[in-house]
Amino acid sequence: MISEQPSGTAILLKLTSRPEPYPPHVRQRLEVDAKEIVARYPHPRSALLPLLHLVQAEEGYVTGTGIDFCADKIGLTGAEVTAVATFYSMYRRTPTGDYHVGVCTNTLCAVLGGDAIYEALQQHLGISHGETTADGAITLEHVECNAACDYAPVMMVNWEFFDNQTPESARAITDALRAGHQVRPTRGAPLCTFRETARILAGFPDERPGALDGAPGEATLAGLHVPESSAAEEDSAGQGA
Ligand code: FES
Repeated sequence: MISEQPSGTAILLKLTSRPEPYPPHVRQRLEVDAKEIVARYPHPRSALLPLLHLVQAEEGYVTGTGIDFCADKIGLTGAEVTAVATFYSMYRRTPTGDYHVGVCTNTLCAVLGGDAIYEALQQHLGISHGETTADGAITLEHVECNAACDYAPVMMVNWEFFDNQTPESARAITDALRAGHQVRPTRGAPLCTFRETARILAGFPDERPGALDGAPGEATLAGLHVPESSAAEEDSAGQGA
C-alpha cells in the first residue's frame, strides 16, 4: 500500500498477514500444557515466560503463531508478548538446531580464551553468530556472561555448562554432538535437545539422570574459604595474645 504524505513523500506501508494458528491437534495438546502452566500462578500474565518456553519447545523458536497462542492464553496483546519475547535472548527468533552452542565472549571469558573458542568454532562449523549447520545439529552464538566466570572460559550447550574450555575441547564437543554421541556437561545431567530443554524450562519434569544432583565446585567455594580461613587465623591469634 502506498500512502502520500503532506510533504509529497511516498511511504510504503507493509501489511503482513496474521500468523497461521497451530493445527487443531497441536493446539489441543498445547492448551493442556498451557492450562497447567497458567494454574501455577495467581495471575495468568505471570505465566508468560514459561509459556514462551512451551511454544519454543514446539517449534524450536518463538514464532508469530507461538506469540499469538501465548497472548490468547493469558489475555495480553501480541505486542506485549512480542516485547517480552524479544527482550530475553533465551527466546530465539530464528529456527534452532538440536544443540544451541553459546560461547561466552564477555570480558573474563574473552580474555581467557572465549574469543579464540568462538573463532575456532566459527571456522570449524562454517557458520557465524545465530546460524545453524546444514545438518540442523548446531546453532552457534556468542553469549554474554553466564555467571560462571570462576570456570572461564565457559561454553554452554542447551544452557548446560562446559567449564574451562579450549578451542580443541569445544571442537571435540561439537563433533561428538554431530555424530549423535551422548555428551555430558561438566556439571549437570546429560544433554537433551534444544526443544526438550525448552520444555523443561517451561516447568515440566526434568527426568534426566542426575538432573537434581550437583554441588558447588572448588572454584566457586574459593571465595567462601578465604574469609573462613582469615577468621580462623584471627581467632587463633586472639587466643595466643
Ligand atoms: S564472563 Fe563468561 S561466564 Fe562470566
